[in-house]
Amino acid sequence: MEALFHAFEKARKLVDEQLEQMLTSHHPLTDGLYKAAAYAVNGGKRIRPIFMFLSGELFEVPVERLIAPACSVELIHTASLIMDDLPYMDDSKLRRGRPTSHLVFGQDVALCSSVALISRSFEAILSDFQLEETTKLQIIQVLTRSFGFDGLSGGQFVDLKLKDSEAKIEVLEFINSRKTAALFIAAGEIAAIVGQAEMAEQEAIKKYAEYIGFAFQIIDDILDLKGEEHVVGKNLQQDKMNFAVLVGLEEAQNYANEYTEKALQSLEIFGDRAHKLKAFSLYLLNRIA
Ligand code: IPE
Ligand code: IPE
Ligand code: MG
Ligand code: MG
Ligand code: MG
Repeated sequence: MEALFHAFEKARKLVDEQLEQMLTSHHPLTDGLYKAAAYAVNGGKRIRPIFMFLSGELFEVPVERLIAPACSVELIHTASLIMDDLPYMDDSKLRRGRPTSHLVFGQDVALCSSVALISRSFEAILSDFQLEETTKLQIIQVLTRSFGFDGLSGGQFVDLKLKDSEAKIEVLEFINSRKTAALFIAAGEIAAIVGQAEMAEQEAIKKYAEYIGFAFQIIDDILDLKGEEHVVGKNLQQDKMNFAVLVGLEEAQNYANEYTEKALQSLEIFGDRAHKLKAFSLYLLNRIA
């Protein structure tokens, strides 16, 4: 576990420094937009970048080659959180332990910053000098898919429009596969692409990512019901419907355990090389924030 925490620290530092550089204003008139974007980006757990780096280690990718892609994924993730918190979505007041973006900067600026962050995510890949042009194209294809109609946006749409009476396991799995697992899958797939992993290993890391994505959202849903606001850093007990609401806390925990077990099985192909990813999935399962 200690090796894992060391990897966490290192990953967070690399990503935080790079993100700060990426969000430097180029004109005084847009300072406010950058400020809002940087505010939203600060303070996340950086779970997806950490996962990308750990997957990269598996494929022997030098970490420098994954800094821009890891930031890209984190930028898209943050953009999605800004939108998710808006009054006409989850109407949340607290995010990452601070007031949500729209409360600090207004809904108009929050929305602009969210769109700009998505754009910045793609620029990060295109302007990176570590990656070859063909690799960049592949990464952009993966990123595009991850937050489009069949990714985050699609999942978020179904989540928002779901009537309580229509909620069932399969529908929530559909939602979670898109709103949450999609970005984890993208992170794993990008590491595999940059590491030129063979197809079977690429598929294995994507499966692992999908399962930890499912488990991650269920734990998030459980924390929404029984977590502590000052630890989680978000408004809790706000979800009208989620996995834990539908099946109850105990059964939701069973599902999260099962998904984690399936994630671990997906790593079998890698043998001992995957020991950090194994520890990572157990860490995610037991998290309290
Ligand atoms: C929150 O993600 C949104 C979900 C998909 C559950 P995180 O729990 O990774 O949020 P941050 O990035 O640490 O704020
Ligand atoms: C995940 O769902 C949100 C996105 C993927 C945008 P939640 O609505 O549960 O996320 P939190 O709990 O607000 O972070
Ligand atoms: Mg939501
Ligand atoms: Mg929310
Ligand atoms: Mg939640």
